[in-house]
Amino acid sequence: MRVASKSWLLLTLAFAWVAAGETNGNLRRESEQEEPPASRIVGGSVASASNYPSHVQWALGCGGSLFHDDLVLTAAHCFFNNKNVLKNYPLYVGGDGSSQSGTELYAEAGYIHPLYDPSKAQAYDFAVLQLPQKITGIELMSINSDRHYPVNGQPLTVMGFGLMDEHDGARDAPGAMREVTIPMIDNCLPYYSSNRINDEIVFCAGDMPRGGKDACRGDSGGPIVDADGKQVGLVSWGIGCARANRPGVYARVSTIAKWLEYLKCDVSMYPPESCTRLDVNMTYDDYPEETGFQIIDDSDPEQQQAVIFEVPGKMDIPPRATIHYSYQLPIGNYSFVYEDANLDGSCCSFGDGHAVITNGGKGVNVSGDFSLYGSQQEESIEMPLPNVGVPGTNNSGWGELGGSTATALGQQQQQGNQQHVFGIQVVIMYDLDRVNDITWQLFTVDNSAGAGELVLLHNDAPSPNRGLDSYNRQSCVFQDLPAGSYEFHIEDASGMGFAPGVGFARVMLLDNTRGVLSGRLFHVAGDDIEPLTVATFDLGGDSGTN
Ligand SMILES: *[C@@H]1O[C@H](CO)[C@@H](O)[C@H](O)[C@H]1NC(C)=O
Ligand SMILES: *[C@@H]1O[C@H](CO)[C@@H](O)[C@H](O)[C@H]1NC(C)=O
Ligand SMILES: *[C@@H]1O[C@H](CO)[C@@H](O)[C@H](O)[C@H]1NC(C)=O
Ligand SMILES: *[C@@H]1O[C@H](CO)[C@@H](O)[C@H](O)[C@H]1NC(C)=O
Repeated sequence: MRVASKSWLLLTLAFAWVAAGETNGNLRRESEQEEPPASRIVGGSVASASNYPSHVQWALGCGGSLFHDDLVLTAAHCFFNNKNVLKNYPLYVGGDGSSQSGTELYAEAGYIHPLYDPSKAQAYDFAVLQLPQKITGIELMSINSDRHYPVNGQPLTVMGFGLMDEHDGARDAPGAMREVTIPMIDNCLPYYSSNRINDEIVFCAGDMPRGGKDACRGDSGGPIVDADGKQVGLVSWGIGCARANRPGVYARVSTIAKWLEYLKCDVSMYPPESCTRLDVNMTYDDYPEETGFQIIDDSDPEQQQAVIFEVPGKMDIPPRATIHYSYQLPIGNYSFVYEDANLDGSCCSFGDGHAVITNGGKGVNVSGDFSLYGSQQEESIEMPLPNVGVPGTNNSGWGELGGSTATALGQQQQQGNQQHVFGIQVVIMYDLDRVNDITWQLFTVDNSAGAGELVLLHNDAPSPNRGLDSYNRQSCVFQDLPAGSYEFHIEDASGMGFAPGVGFARVMLLDNTRGVLSGRLFHVAGDDIEPLTVATFDLGGDSGTN
């Protein structure tokens, strides 16, 4: 056990920023009232079509980058709190450099970074869009993960379909993609006040003090790349465009390199081979709103990065409830950071708070009594979770806290006979306004009498125990299902589904030997949910689902 790391404190401190007194910078996308923006970067030139195949144009006036088969990185501020953006504005993938060329697709889901805060100078201005299909034949964007890169003065290139002049209006005809090359600025404090620039999460770029070359409205979310085409940042904000002493501000992608790796496992329909499942059963005390956790990547102690956040105070959880969270994440060394905002742990006279964490054959039971870890007044304690996803059941690395603080769970999580049983995961991303309208069930279909009788396996009635994660998702895993026919029912009491573009319900096949997602059995978009939506699927047998 270690006390909270420095980087964890930095993350916490990021919450404490106070928004600057000066007026907000211009976000580099069009406002909602205007039409989709016209062309071009300021002070640049037409981009060669072959240079940026992984650049994605989002018709609402943003750019993005295809960094995985079905995932696009963009800016969180592009959403502007408008739930309809996914449904209303298509993406253009694999274009030839002219506006709205390439394959037109609508994103199925959007994931805004859990620490995104528009009131703190657009802190963590990151979002990921999930495409409805795998994109082939395009070289994926490579994402920089080195915190000390890029370096001061290094030439970087930003491209997009944004405005060529800050005074231009949306009526300028859309044209060819533009690009401009500008030097990286390591120290941005001469240009913007320190409460707006946290160089852990942003950097600046521009030809200072002169200006003249910059990204502008309509370029938001698009990549800024090094000479090798590796993405080092994305377009976030600035004051005006290309003004003297006002460089562009870019969100630093190395900050979220681990989060992107996690989304490849947890969100993509095409997860890499190197993914594994981690389950966290959190038992809360009488004050669940004080308790949260993070899963931190431990591979480089200097660069620990949270990949999963359950920020305290976000969820409507009943006192003393146990909530089951299930995640897919890359194989690696992690730590579990158990947080209590009131500095008194999750325990004792207020209940028996604890976290039971399991992965394959390994498990650990972490007590919420922080005083057991040697300090009375900690805002968080950290439990190492070494070799997550590495086969083998030697769990000695898990739970070396001594005494009864952490109890190794041994091999009770071993999976069943892998030849004959299947696993599925039901994921529902809810519309927060309509959570209580939704009931869902899982049935097996018993054909023994030839009649196809439904046998209820699970009924999920509206309840705060649904334990939605930071993306409003509920994730339920059903292991050891025998081969056969199944039905998934989702009922919507209002009959209206979710707001357009919000959420989905989906049933995924789990690969039982690796515990990772291995295919999609069913998907329905939130607003396509009917009063009763029924999906039938087979596991094993002739259906070929395995
Ligand atoms: C965690 O909770 C789930 C859902 O309630 C349950 O199926 C599973 O057995 C629990 N795991 C442990 C280790 O208690
Ligand atoms: C975890 O860290 C140890 C020690 O540095 C290393 O040997 C091991 O390969 C790491 N495991 C994974 C899965 O990266
Ligand atoms: C975990 O420890 C708590 C005590 O903090 C205990 O009440 C609970 O039963 C334990 N759970 C498991 C699965 O070992
Ligand atoms: C389990 O790991 C510990 C510490 O790494 C080691 O001392 C022990 O021999 C291992 N046990 C087995 C059965 O591999």
